[in-house]
Amino acid sequence: MCGIVGYIGDSKASPLLLEGLRALEYRGYDSAGAALLLDGAFHTVRRAGRVEQLKEPLNALNSKATIGIAHTRWATHGAPAEPNAHPHLSADERWAVVHNGIIENADELRADLEAIGVAFASETDTEVIPQLLERVGMDGDFECAALENLGEQYTPLEALLDVLPLLKGSWALGILCADVPDTLLCACQGSPLLVGEGENGMYLASDYAAFAEDVHKVYRIIDGEIGVLTQNSVTFYNPAGQEISKTAEQFSRKEQSSDKGGYAHFMRKEIDEQPLAVRRTLAHFFSDDGVFRLSVELPVKPRKIWLVACGSAYHVCMTGKYVMEELARIPCEVAVASEFRYQYPLITQGDLAVFVSQSGETADTLAAVREASSRGAFTLGIVNVPGSAIARACGAVLPTLAGMEIAVATTKAYSAQLSVLYALALHFAKEAGHEAPELEKALRQLPEAIQAALSTEETAQFIAEQIADAEHAYFIGRNLDYAAALEGSLKLKEISYLHSEAYPAGELKHGTISLIEAGTPVIALACNERLLPKTAANIREVTARGARVFAVCTNGNEDHLDADAVISLAATHPLLMPSVEVIPLQLLSYHVARIRGCDIDKPKNLAKSVTVE
Ligand code: G6P
Repeated sequence: MCGIVGYIGDSKASPLLLEGLRALEYRGYDSAGAALLLDGAFHTVRRAGRVEQLKEPLNALNSKATIGIAHTRWATHGAPAEPNAHPHLSADERWAVVHNGIIENADELRADLEAIGVAFASETDTEVIPQLLERVGMDGDFECAALENLGEQYTPLEALLDVLPLLKGSWALGILCADVPDTLLCACQGSPLLVGEGENGMYLASDYAAFAEDVHKVYRIIDGEIGVLTQNSVTFYNPAGQEISKTAEQFSRKEQSSDKGGYAHFMRKEIDEQPLAVRRTLAHFFSDDGVFRLSVELPVKPRKIWLVACGSAYHVCMTGKYVMEELARIPCEVAVASEFRYQYPLITQGDLAVFVSQSGETADTLAAVREASSRGAFTLGIVNVPGSAIARACGAVLPTLAGMEIAVATTKAYSAQLSVLYALALHFAKEAGHEAPELEKALRQLPEAIQAALSTEETAQFIAEQIADAEHAYFIGRNLDYAAALEGSLKLKEISYLHSEAYPAGELKHGTISLIEAGTPVIALACNERLLPKTAANIREVTARGARVFAVCTNGNEDHLDADAVISLAATHPLLMPSVEVIPLQLLSYHVARIRGCDIDKPKNLAKSVTVE
């Protein structure tokens, strides 16, 4: 949520900043801006809308500046309008700041600053930071050392060390001071921030995706740390201002490929990458000779397993509950992360709490990890980004190896997450002495089953053409099919803006069936063969009321379903069917969104990583 980049080096900053922002646009895209520092003054460009809006004004500046910071925003405080776009400058225009996160006490700080005559130019929480940086040391309410001696006794680092303790909330910051043009400052608290070391200079970014090709070393800044970047060095400090040493990871841009590879959209490319994502993720659980094993030590026989996440990852947890309870016979509770802390969860020592997150950054999921830890539960993260905040906060981590996912709507990370939950259920089943050789075999063959499901695209596209004009659609299914229905429905509405809802197939008649009219599309998931007759009956209930039904079932069951069109899938182990049936649902959403002319990779109002609660 919000992406920041910074550069200090010997190359022109503006093209590097623009490239970096393009790569971070998945984090938020309702306004963008950049500040370049040249000859002791800032040159800023800010625009409402997409990063691309910055291209012309930045080119027009044709600045020789070799130092700058930039930002792409997902609005939290203040509308997505130009005055609220970052960077924000202090009133004296000596400080420029880009920020990802939320300053929770911004209202109080703003009131204090306004009381001493500081005029604000935006509605953002962020603006208090440059204003505070300007004020520290001046006479008034913020008593610190004298800022007039900046560069001699009082450095930008010292100013920042004075300001950070005044802030509450979360931040990843890039900061420039016009008086010290050879320094780029950064700081982090609860939001991701990386420093990249390259041949042509030093870089700052919210994510690896933003680094240029010359970057070969990356440092992850963690909570409380500050970095001071110059053209060819970086020095790190703890919150007390003491220098600390940090270890860099090797980095290669080539391994972080982020182009569309000939596809029209990242989402479509990532749909096709699912067999590979699942194969790589599962390889983690099987030794070279095919023996199943877990790479982490987990509590033996947990009293209860909690599965906690947001968005699509929550649907993974819903699926995980069915599989875990059926296979391992351990009671599971599923929770939306944003509700978890407020429901006074009866979680305790002896429980295993599993947190599923693609980004590893989601603020609510992270807060839920802390809640579970504080109550004594063992915490396990299932994350796609190594070293992310959730990975660091959990007692153990099982990675999803989906690779970088760029489309805001998740596909391949979702599939990789599902495969980890199956493996986890298999682990606990084995531990309890319930060997499941058929499931184990099917799990190893899951990438092939997913690959086969990709061949349903033609029928999915045909159904997309049938429903693209609809105003509402309903997804129904029972048991695991219901969990898949939730994800299918979310995918459809988030990228095509066609309103849809998912219901347990037997529940529709308890109210929602009153919304079914002649022609209302109902997507009926009937891959659970055990419950096929029940779901078939529910389909008849809606066709009797005029619904157009599009069904998804396993090969051979088509004739049991009273549907306008059917997508047939090769059956795998029944507990693994959610991974197969989600594929045509993703393809259906993709084609509906395409037909409706939507911005598939960047749906309106969304962001891929949500770092606010
Ligand atoms: C956002 C994304 C969703 C994602 C959810 C959880 O809402 O748009 O696609 O499922 O966050 O994200 P996480 O990174 O924790 O999996």
